[in-house]
Amino acid sequence: MESIRVFSLILLVTLVLGHGDPNRKHYIVYMGQHSHPSSESVILANHKMLASVLESYNGAEEASIHHYTKSFRGFSAMLTPDQATQLSETEGVVSVFESKMNRLHTTNSWRFLGVDSIPQYNKLHTNIKSDVIIGVIDTGVWPESESFNDYGLGPVPTKFKGECVPGQNFTQSNCNRKIIGAKYYSKGFEAINGPLENTNLTFFRSPRDSDGHGTHTSSTIAGSQVSNVSLYGLGSGTATGGVPSARLAIYKACWFEDCEDADVLAAIDDAIHDGVDVISISLGSIPPQPIYFEEAISIGSFHAFEKGIAVSASAGNSFAPSTASNVAPWILTVGASTINREFPSYVVLGNLKQLKGFGVNTKQDKGKQYSLISGSVAAASGIPSRNASFCKRNTLDSDLISGKIVVCMLEKLDDDRKEKAISIKEGGGAGMIIIDPLAKYVLFQSVIPSVLIGQAEAQELQMYMNSEKNSTARIYLTVTNVGTKPAPLMAIFSSKGPNTITPDIIKPDITAPGVNILAAWSPLATERTAGNSLNYNIISGTSMSCPHVAAVAALLKSVHPYWSPAAIKSAIMTTAMTTDNTRNFIQNDDSTNATPFDYGSGHVNPSAAINPGLIYDFDTNDLINFLCSYGASPAQLKNLTVTPVYCKNPPTPSYNFNYPSIGVANMAGNLSVYRTVTYIGQGPTTYYSNLQIIEGVKTSVYPDVMRFSKPGENMTYRVDFVPYKSSNGSFVFGSLTWMNDVHRVRSPIAVNVVSV
Ligand SMILES: *[C@@H]1O[C@H](CO)[C@@H](O)[C@H](O)[C@H]1NC(C)=O
Ligand SMILES: *[C@@H]1O[C@H](CO)[C@@H](O)[C@H](O)[C@H]1NC(C)=O
Ligand SMILES: *[C@@H]1O[C@H](CO)[C@@H](O)[C@H](O)[C@H]1NC(C)=O
Ligand SMILES: *[C@@H]1O[C@H](CO)[C@@H](O)[C@H](O)[C@H]1NC(C)=O
Ligand SMILES: *[C@@H]1O[C@H](CO)[C@@H](O)[C@H](O)[C@H]1NC(C)=O
Ligand SMILES: *[C@@H]1O[C@H](CO)[C@@H](O)[C@H](O)[C@H]1NC(C)=O
Ligand SMILES: *[C@@H]1O[C@H](CO)[C@@H](O)[C@H](O)[C@H]1NC(C)=O
Ligand SMILES: *[C@@H]1O[C@H](CO)[C@@H](O)[C@H](O)[C@H]1NC(C)=O
Ligand SMILES: *[C@@H]1O[C@H](CO)[C@@H](O)[C@H](O)[C@H]1NC(C)=O
Repeated sequence: MESIRVFSLILLVTLVLGHGDPNRKHYIVYMGQHSHPSSESVILANHKMLASVLESYNGAEEASIHHYTKSFRGFSAMLTPDQATQLSETEGVVSVFESKMNRLHTTNSWRFLGVDSIPQYNKLHTNIKSDVIIGVIDTGVWPESESFNDYGLGPVPTKFKGECVPGQNFTQSNCNRKIIGAKYYSKGFEAINGPLENTNLTFFRSPRDSDGHGTHTSSTIAGSQVSNVSLYGLGSGTATGGVPSARLAIYKACWFEDCEDADVLAAIDDAIHDGVDVISISLGSIPPQPIYFEEAISIGSFHAFEKGIAVSASAGNSFAPSTASNVAPWILTVGASTINREFPSYVVLGNLKQLKGFGVNTKQDKGKQYSLISGSVAAASGIPSRNASFCKRNTLDSDLISGKIVVCMLEKLDDDRKEKAISIKEGGGAGMIIIDPLAKYVLFQSVIPSVLIGQAEAQELQMYMNSEKNSTARIYLTVTNVGTKPAPLMAIFSSKGPNTITPDIIKPDITAPGVNILAAWSPLATERTAGNSLNYNIISGTSMSCPHVAAVAALLKSVHPYWSPAAIKSAIMTTAMTTDNTRNFIQNDDSTNATPFDYGSGHVNPSAAINPGLIYDFDTNDLINFLCSYGASPAQLKNLTVTPVYCKNPPTPSYNFNYPSIGVANMAGNLSVYRTVTYIGQGPTTYYSNLQIIEGVKTSVYPDVMRFSKPGENMTYRVDFVPYKSSNGSFVFGSLTWMNDVHRVRSPIAVNVVSV
């Protein structure tokens, strides 16, 4: 899942349990489209195929874990590497790959409390009556949450073929006209980690959510309106999902924040079959992302695309360039940025200097003045000063920290902040200040008054502590600031491009709110809430931005039921904003301008996306041609679609794939790129082009004016690039915008000039 993860909740035992041969691993055997008449006949054929390799039918039944029988064909099974190789050479098999763990993309270790989830969407037509169904692949749902009430919703849409699968503490009556379906998938997880029970952690063998993440993402997408939601009064307001009239189908494929490929693929297989309109996936592989034919989300979402289902997925929280996950061109890949609201908790020093920090301090007694001490000078006996500076357990001297505010450092970015707070509380400390580069992204909920501060504030603090023998500080109550500028700001953790698999496709595609987002929560998930049982919580991550874009896709689907997933993607991307609320270009955390590798086409702009003017469309055949251009083998491609497909010879260059942004990863001299737009407005209109200069590349567009007379008309244009300076191994950026009186249809451009 793609919320920022600060520490692992559990150490999973990664032994292969049971199943005899210790060399066996869990593999997915993927066979693309199928034309079998029933699930039973697929399972029979799967067992036969497996038996031919295992030389025993019973062995095949015992070794198989999942069967993918509905939207595409395949199975997962415990196999030795040799058996896996043998299967990969079998007729009809597209790929065989080890089922890997995916991670939720949340900043879960930090606590975030109480705000409106999508305040900037208030201008949306949220009263649209909608039967749009969103499939959410996540940690399940807390069905009793007010956010899932179904007041005013009509009957379950008849097109929905899903089920409400009962299980532990979950009955069919937990589904309603909001949560119309709920299923869970644990076989893949358990094949690798052993029975869920062995973890000794709280869980439900059912769609019920004990983690909070799935409840948060689902309510962000389609939560009903709930008034007076806050966290201890912080950010009090009305919580509502992006499309409150939409329905949710819940697919729980993640356990304790980990999501096994084989389970995720089973969830997508069902979601497609059940008739969802949009799928939201806030999780991804740990970078580097495997190729598209060897990874569950890419494979599953390809088939979703083919069936007209838009898939929104999180880019990840990996901070660095080239780490974006879920980068297939048929996925909407979502980065994370801030909103115009923050929750500062000020620290006032003895010299009356005020430092801006962040944290959740909501109890009145938290305003007292206390002496300050650094963890490094409060080492317990036998502990080096450096070790004590991190304030971990059993490193601090209680006599020294008792009644004081302790200043702590991070050893690593993913240090467990919670452990530090507990360590100080146990030593009788009065409060904690952590010097933390992620300060503003982490609304830390702590067992003692705690504030996270950035580097500039840390310097101020250090100067004061060095100059004053009895340095003191007060930690003030957290306040809600609205109207923060500049916003949006790209979140430091949001995974960045370029795309490591198909670098001509700029990734991520878009950014959306993913910092300090309030949404519904599982009251049993107290690990991140300082032990408090909460119904609403604030967390950060691309896990939180992904459902915002899923909601916009659902909104477009309800306004334009016949739009293809590519049209939805185009509308969302070409109408995105690249400026912030100070009318400057959107920036990164370090005050540099964000590039398409940070935010793709920009910040999602839902009301503009409803009426984009022009559309860059593409279909499954275009995707196949695109994959051909990246050297996909006929064997890999042949079973992706029911009808046989052949690669053109020579293949269409990948930069000519009709994507709503323009990327050329390998520009060696003059090059022309083609795109085709479809006009979706009313009467005659004229669009004029506007090119933003690319450093070192002369760029022109032909024609530079496009006249349309009626909707549905297509027009192809050409962009000529004449590079005159090598870009020295990195990309240079520009953009092309088509404008008429009303619309601005913008495509970012990223080119890497390897020679002129
Ligand atoms: C793969 O495609 C070929 C040709 O269309 C077909 O004969 C074969 O049955 C397919 N394999 C599977 C597993 O569906
Ligand atoms: C789950 O069900 C059991 C048995 O009915 C009950 O004792 C328990 O309180 C339930 N737990 C929750 C969280 O509802
Ligand atoms: C779970 O608890 C049991 C009994 O307390 C213990 O023996 C076992 O080691 C624990 N397992 C894990 C994974 O912590
Ligand atoms: C809102 O919630 C707070 C705290 O839960 C409560 O004290 C207050 O009375 C509520 N206000 C309204 C208008 O319901
Ligand atoms: C201090 O920290 C270092 C590195 O983290 C570790 O190797 C060492 O064991 C620690 N020393 C003590 C006494 O805890
Ligand atoms: C330091 O300041 C604190 C807070 O004002 C006060 O309680 C304490 O007595 C002072 N300690 C010394 C040694 O002056
Ligand atoms: C590239 O295009 C420019 C402008 O059309 C032209 O002058 C130049 O000769 C071309 N270079 C090559 C190598 O074709
Ligand atoms: C325009 O292109 C779309 C998508 O490729 C196609 O379905 C449609 O028929 C074309 N329209 C016309 C008028 O040719
Ligand atoms: C090109 O990149 C290399 C390594 O990144 C750098 O040392 C060099 O200065 C760059 N040259 C130019 C002209 O920017």
